[in-house]
Amino acid sequence: MDARSSTFETLSKKIETRAARAGIIGLGYVGLPLAMAVARSGFAVTGFDIDPKKIVALDARRSYIDAVTNEALTAEIDAGRFVSTTDFAGLSDCDVIVICVPTPLTKHRDPDLSFVEATSRSIAAHLRAGQLIVLESTTYPGTTDDIVKVILEETGLKSGSDFFVGFSPEREDPGNQNYHTATIPKVVAGDGAQALSLMKSFYGAAVSSVVPVSSNATAEAVKLTENIFRSVNIALVNELKTVYAAMGIDVWEVIDAAKTKPFGYMPFYPGPGLGGHCIPIDPFYLTWKSREFELPTRFIELAGEINSAMPRYVVGKLAEALDIRAGKALSRSRVLVLGLAYKKNVADIRESPSLRLIEIIEERGGKADYHDPFVAEIPPTREYQALKGRKSIDLTPEAVAGYDVVLIATDHDIIDYAALSKNARLIVDTRNVFGRLGLSADHLIKA
Ligand SMILES: NC(=O)c1ccc[n+]([C@@H]2O[C@H](COP(=O)([O-])OP(=O)(O)OC[C@H]3O[C@@H](n4cnc5c(N)ncnc54)[C@H](O)[C@@H]3O)[C@@H](O)[C@H]2O)c1
Repeated sequence: MDARSSTFETLSKKIETRAARAGIIGLGYVGLPLAMAVARSGFAVTGFDIDPKKIVALDARRSYIDAVTNEALTAEIDAGRFVSTTDFAGLSDCDVIVICVPTPLTKHRDPDLSFVEATSRSIAAHLRAGQLIVLESTTYPGTTDDIVKVILEETGLKSGSDFFVGFSPEREDPGNQNYHTATIPKVVAGDGAQALSLMKSFYGAAVSSVVPVSSNATAEAVKLTENIFRSVNIALVNELKTVYAAMGIDVWEVIDAAKTKPFGYMPFYPGPGLGGHCIPIDPFYLTWKSREFELPTRFIELAGEINSAMPRYVVGKLAEALDIRAGKALSRSRVLVLGLAYKKNVADIRESPSLRLIEIIEERGGKADYHDPFVAEIPPTREYQALKGRKSIDLTPEAVAGYDVVLIATDHDIIDYAALSKNARLIVDTRNVFGRLGLSADHLIKA
């Protein structure tokens, strides 16, 4: 056996027998559930994060991610399969290292790979032969091979012989009760056949099925394709909503009927705008990379334009409803925005259109409060600093009746919509929650 195959064979055996230690870097929405799934499958896991508050919480067996319960966290810690730290020296003890750090956009909407680069440098400082390094952060095709691998190879060690590099996109769907990390098929790729084989065996242990593809760039493109597909289709129904509304047609009724077609149609639903860490951001990673090839990404740009115009459209509808139904200008009205999270039943407010709705209402002279059962207070955000520290108001009948209009931005299941309908003077529903519940009322309009 030559040195190259023995490095591979040794790591392969370690993964097969669960003797490998996994290091997960970035213990957020993606990293923490992944760390749990990997630990549950029998590997010892070290979680790394630069945020000491997260490590203190985890040490106290307190999860800050909805998808991970305190009990599940405690079980893995007590079984000796999960520890967490801010000390990256422990990376050299890890056989498999998975990077789950943020990939946002810069102020100028270009990819911000500073987190991925910083993490790659931390790994390089502790890199040794016989490690598999995996990127899970969403990014443009080429990042794993052109950035992560290049930084790691600056150590003098070689990918494919001394260490191995792979990419596997994260498909977490926060709040989804039917699917979680271990039951969502996982696309895997590697730099070379041996890296791919290690990827299949590592992820095959932790998740129910793996989907191998031929290169890291392909796997990176898979993730972007999934999110672009969502962004474009959501933009399409958002556009149809505005057109049908002008014609007096209810887009939700149209979609409900259209989706009875057993083939060739897939329902997407309109809303007040795109939110979350993925769909509003990831497509622009491809737009940026495409410029290098002098190719336009018109669908992506158009979808972005339509989706980001939605909050203004909704506030326009709200102002119209106040005018026509209440004879009141928005500038003299009090608005209760119901739901701050970007989607129902979660606490995540990243890129949430609700923040933009509040901002536009106030730009137009209205006064806006919010209620969200999952978000007690607006945390600091980069874009909406003026909203920091505002608190969710209690949804008492008196409070609701005190607002000129309630704007439903997020359709959390926990809200008593029948009671809300009884107490509110006017309701603008951007999610068709009343339609779905079969509740109708004269003081209700859809937007
Ligand atoms: N949230 C989702 O549902 C989701 C779904 C699919 C893909 N993704 C992708 O996964 C990646 C991570 O997203 P997330 O939602 O988990 O982000 P997050 O903000 O919840 O977590 C990222 C974590 O990384 C830590 N971190 C930042 N820099 C670090 C560094 N240099 N070293 C160690 N830790 C560092 C942060 O403190 C944070 O705890 C992104 O690329 C995102 O696009 C997210």
